[in-house]
Amino acid sequence: MQKQHRTRLPNLPPGGNRHRALERALFPRAPAFYFPDCLQTQARIKSSGIDSALRGRLKDIVAIYPGSFDPVTNGHLDLIHRGSKLFDRLIVAIARNLDKDEALFNMEERKEMLEAMTSELDNVTVDIFEGLLVAYCIQKNANAVLRGIRAVSDYEFELQMALMNRKMEPRVETVFMMPAEKYSYLSSRIVREIAKFGGPLIGLVPELVEQRVRQKVAEKHSFATKTHLL
Ligand code: PNS
Repeated sequence: MQKQHRTRLPNLPPGGNRHRALERALFPRAPAFYFPDCLQTQARIKSSGIDSALRGRLKDIVAIYPGSFDPVTNGHLDLIHRGSKLFDRLIVAIARNLDKDEALFNMEERKEMLEAMTSELDNVTVDIFEGLLVAYCIQKNANAVLRGIRAVSDYEFELQMALMNRKMEPRVETVFMMPAEKYSYLSSRIVREIAKFGGPLIGLVPELVEQRVRQKVAEKHSFATKTHLL
């Protein structure tokens, strides 16, 4: 007959501490922090610094969320919120793209709007970068690039970019996340176009961004009229 290993259980105290005493009996050599459901223990762990010591063994994941953000949309913000929960630090990085001459906002204006929209997220910062994304990742000690995939149509371009970035810098991984379904048809380009023709932007961009877009479109229109471009 197979020998049975039995743990001698102590006299368990009544009430809420029973399960803790049971855990202790089953794992007598486990340090206190193996029982994370105990609030008191958790508080002690935090104050003793064991918490950070344990986390220190894990890698701190710094991710870059690059893009044009001209302007930031609710889809971008959805992804930033998701990314801020997943990564230790998230840098929203606006690419200085000299090719895009149909730009609505300049770099500083885009940064200002992004900062206003992410101010409540402690681990999120906004920056502007120039040149290769992978070079910027290394400069910032980032180990991941976050990109959003809305539909299958995004995949081909994103795959090409991710693989090319990996070829140039294998230390940086691209992580794809999906924004909420309701944003799957949303893009900055569509926002600019709707705004240009005076269409509704409700639900597509935050209120502050909508005001700035309307103002900018009006400014551009009056400039074009004055200079006989329209
Ligand atoms: O919001 P977008 O326009 O889709 O963002 C594209 C962006 C800025 C992420 C991409 O063009 C980029 O990474 N530009 C930086 C230059 C670079 O590294 N290019 C090589 C990509 S394989």
